Amino acid sequence: MTLELNQRLLNLPPSGIRKFFEILSTMEDVISLGVGEPDFNTPWNIREYAIYSLEKGHTTYTSNYGLLELRLLISKYLKQRFQVEYDAEKEILVTVGVSEAVDLVVRTLLNPGDEVIIPEPCYVSYAPLVTLAGGSPVSYKASYENNFEIKIDEIKQLVSQKTKAILINYPNNPTGATFSKSELEHLLKLARENDFYVITDEIYAELSYGRKHTCFSSLPGAKPYTILLSGFSKSFAMTGWRVGYVCAPPQILSQLVKIHQYNILCAPSIAQKAACEALTNKKDYIDEMRAQYEQRMNFMYKRFKELGFKVVKPTGAFYIFPNLEHLSMTAEDFCWKLLEEKRVAAVPGDAFGDGYEYNIRCSYAASLSQLEEAMNRIEDFVSSL
Ligand SMILES: Cc1ncc(COP(=O)(O)O)c(C=O)c1O
Repeated sequence: MTLELNQRLLNLPPSGIRKFFEILSTMEDVISLGVGEPDFNTPWNIREYAIYSLEKGHTTYTSNYGLLELRLLISKYLKQRFQVEYDAEKEILVTVGVSEAVDLVVRTLLNPGDEVIIPEPCYVSYAPLVTLAGGSPVSYKASYENNFEIKIDEIKQLVSQKTKAILINYPNNPTGATFSKSELEHLLKLARENDFYVITDEIYAELSYGRKHTCFSSLPGAKPYTILLSGFSKSFAMTGWRVGYVCAPPQILSQLVKIHQYNILCAPSIAQKAACEALTNKKDYIDEMRAQYEQRMNFMYKRFKELGFKVVKPTGAFYIFPNLEHLSMTAEDFCWKLLEEKRVAAVPGDAFGDGYEYNIRCSYAASLSQLEEAMNRIEDFVSSL
């Protein structure tokens, strides 16, 4: 057969991260700073509750929107934790991770040619999903000089008649940067003046250091403009369970659910039960994990600075994004050689957007002793250059 496949798909490059991880998986004794997932196990009470739910036979489809019990808990959690109110029956949809949520949202909002402003560096799926949905990604480049924070005065220059939405993520993967409340207010003003949606991926909201996380939709008047995405993967160490959610105005949610209903039916029922337990008996583990990430972040920041890298101190998530321009080699070369010679894996920055070919993303979701060893190996490697 030689029939042509979907042209948008054919034009899309494969994810820069995947190639790296396929090679990595064939190597031994590697310390990986490459993965974007917690090194903690899902807390035991959550796993135990999932086992219990399985024994009780909660193994059927749920409502397309997700278990009402879970949506009520999400609604209560968002109100208590982030002072934002969403109606469990009309404004919340449980998805297969934030990954599915991003896809649903862009497919629901976009007509061919509509533009979505995407601040970079950012999570790898945003621009490809906008493209697949028929939209045009318009990139904004966050810079080291601005601590990788997004400047709304600069975003203003990218807004056009075709702008349908901006897709932001804070705390950010891969930089660890976040937004100040005043800059979010500035963004809301821009969205209202120009009539576009603000899609906010707040999956790392629980992992904020020093600066209090402001949920965009908690700003007065923001809700009609906001599509809030979040989930359980990072804060509850539940990546493999695949549970996320979208909160949106009812007229948008009722359209989102149509795609979800035809494509997915519902998020896995056992995982939804486990998520209920995560929100019912939160214990102190989020605080403990956050404290550990913060300690590791301080360590990584100090070590990279000592080694002469230009580096911005992260204020959230579990990544750091140092710049190695002074070494006169690209991040791609640096990462391959570091992997071959010292068995340490980091991800070249251009996987997260063009223009970051001298940055590397290091995840500090690894134990402090592993991080110490990794940084010693990086020090040896740098001094051998
Ligand atoms: C910013 C961001 N959004 C979404 C995701 C995907 O999350 P999920 O596991 O909920 O699909 C990730 C995963 O690394 C991420 O970093």
